[in-house]
Parts: sequence; structure tokens; C-alpha cells
Amino acid sequence: MSSTSTLNLDKLAPWATDRGPPAPRPGILDISPYVPGKAGAPGITAPIKLSANENILGCSPAAKAAFAAVVGDLNLYPDGRGTALRECLASHYGVEGERLILGCGSDEIFALLAQVFLGAGDNIVQGEFGFGAYAIAAQANEARVKRAREPNYRIDVDLLLAEVDERTRLVFIANPANPTGTYLCAEEVRRLHAGLPPGVVLVLDGAYAEFNRNPDFTDGLDLARDADNIVVTHTFSKLHGLAALRLGWAYAPAAISDAVNRIRPPFNTSIPGHAAAIAALGDEDFQARSIAHMETWRPWLAQQLGGLGLEVTPSAANFLLVEFPRAPGRTAGEAEAFLAARGLIVRGVGGYGLPHHLRITIGLEEHNRAVIDALAAFMSADDAGR
Ligand SMILES: Cc1ncc(COP(=O)(O)O)c(C=O)c1O
Repeated sequence: MSSTSTLNLDKLAPWATDRGPPAPRPGILDISPYVPGKAGAPGITAPIKLSANENILGCSPAAKAAFAAVVGDLNLYPDGRGTALRECLASHYGVEGERLILGCGSDEIFALLAQVFLGAGDNIVQGEFGFGAYAIAAQANEARVKRAREPNYRIDVDLLLAEVDERTRLVFIANPANPTGTYLCAEEVRRLHAGLPPGVVLVLDGAYAEFNRNPDFTDGLDLARDADNIVVTHTFSKLHGLAALRLGWAYAPAAISDAVNRIRPPFNTSIPGHAAAIAALGDEDFQARSIAHMETWRPWLAQQLGGLGLEVTPSAANFLLVEFPRAPGRTAGEAEAFLAARGLIVRGVGGYGLPHHLRITIGLEEHNRAVIDALAAFMSADDAGR
């Protein structure tokens, strides 16, 4: 290096001159990394995974075929705009294609929205038990997370609105919610939106929306159509059973989708993802079977768990939140271990502030029966017998 191009340390920002190792931005190391549901347990060779709210029926055969059909294209970059999928979603849902955002899972869309809207000193508002990805997205942008209490494990619109202040930029709710499974009816969503200042964006995360068949429910697409500050997200991971392909989408005001598209990684969705998603959208039979499975086994499992003396939060999603006693020998942690030892992997939700609960994804009939048999044994066993 010549003397004229010598680095002048005095002119650099302080973080570059302290000569220590590279330091992450403020707040990054305060973030608790997302803890996914466990996939197995020590010594268990064929675990039954009921810990990640995946589609227990698999995915559409048409989606599998479409995935396999593009195996010869693995050397190619995808169409970064996902034009074919975008058009397919637009006609399927009757929405404007240019207002759609495609993401590497809806998780990426939360992160992109946070990047677009949040900076140091801003905040997001969510429920006390809000889905973990929202807080990570906010904190990664030096924003604070304000949590409104959720009495009876439900979002309370007034408590949520009471948390909104002049630095709030985004309000996140999953509807139905994870990990509680509860939902906010259309009227309440409308009231929430009406109570927000126009500059605050309401993000309605519809990851489980298709499993909610209650007539008073909306995923919010209808409300978003004419609003400047509603973003509705959906995913191909749940109803369509394509979690491995990481594909989510959002319907946003044109100005928001324009902003997000400016910062989105250029190729954030994939050719196999687009192909499988288009086929999945067209496979109404698989969708109907997934919903019917839920409508059969969700109430069955809830009723059986109730029969064991366990408190089950009414769920509109593909899982149940179950409360366990505090008594030693009957706790949620012990139940999780008892089930895991029998190959049944469920989700502890202590990280969500629910140390006395487990979240159990609705399984196939034999899984559900195995869960009930195991928990019946757990609840009736002598403590000494464990
Ligand atoms: C409420 C909620 N939103 C979003 C997601 C993430 O979905 P995706 O797979 O599209 O990133 C999940 C996944 O479990 C979820 O529970």
C-alpha cells in the first residue's frame, strides 16, 4: 500500500477503530434466538413430531409432482418476482398481483417489514404470547417490543391499543394465534384497525387462518383491500404442507409492497417453491382433506384431554395449548419428557411465558390416540412409578 492510501484511523467511525473484534449492532446480542420445536428425543428412532404445527397429512401429490418436474432447473436462478405464482395467488384470492410480497416463509416478510418500518427507539406492539419471530424482527432493528396482556390467552383489543404510543410503527397479531390457538373475530379486528393511528401498520398473520372455519372470522384480506395500513400474511407451510420450501406471501398496500420489494433479497423464493405452491393452490382436494382432518380430530383431542382433567384452550388452529397441573409428577415439563420417552414429541412453551403448558399439533388418528393413551398413563401413574 502506498503512503498516500494509508488508512487514517482517526477518520473512521469509533466501532471501526477500537481494534477489538467486529461488534454486532446494539441490541443484537440481547435477542434470544428462536427455539424451534424439537424434532426427536434421545434413543427414539421413529419419533412422531407434533411440535411444529406441520401438516400431518403431508402435502398435495400435485405439489410433489410439480416439485419433481423442475429438478432439471436447479442450476437456474428463479424469477425473483415470482411472476407465475404472483398471478396465480392474485386470481385465486381476487387481489391485485402487484400488491403481493413473496418471502422465504412468512418469517422473512416479518423481517422485511421490520427493516422497512423500524429504527432505534421505535416499537412494535403484540400480545403477551405473540409469535416469537415478530420480536426478533423488531429487536434486530433496534426497536422495542411492547406486549399487551392476553387475559384467558386471548388478544384483548383494548389492552393492545393501550400499548400503542407515538413510537409504535407495527402491530402484529397472528390470527389464529400461535401458541395459544385463540382468534380475534372479524368485528374485533375491525375495531383494532379503527383504533390505530393511520401511520401504524397492522400485520395480520394468517399462518393458520385456513383452519379457522368459524363464521365470525376473517383473515383480513377483505379489510386490507381498501386500507393503507393493513398487511395480511399467509404461508404455504401449514395448510399446504410445504414448510420445507419456505414460501410465504403478503397482501399489502401498494406503497408497502413497493418499499419491501426494494430491500428484499433478489432471489428470496425458489423455482421448486413456486412450482409446488402453484400446484398446491390448485389442489382443492388436499386442502379440503387437511381442513376436514382438523375438524374431526381437533375437537376429539380437546375433549379427550379435558376428560383427563387437563385444561385445553379452545383452538382455531392445527394445534392445542394444554395446561398441566403444578403438582410435582404432573407438570408440563414432566409430561413432555414422558411423551418424548414414548416417541411423541410435543412443544414446551416456557419460552413464551407458558411454563405450565404444552402445545400439541393435531396428528393422524393413531398419533392422537397414542397421545391420549400416554397422557392417561401419565396423569394416573404413581409418582413413585416414574
Ligand atoms: C403464527 C405463525 N406465523 C408464521 C409462521 C411462519 O411461517 P413460515 O413457515 O411461512 O415462515 C409460523 C410458523 O410456525 C407461525 O406459527
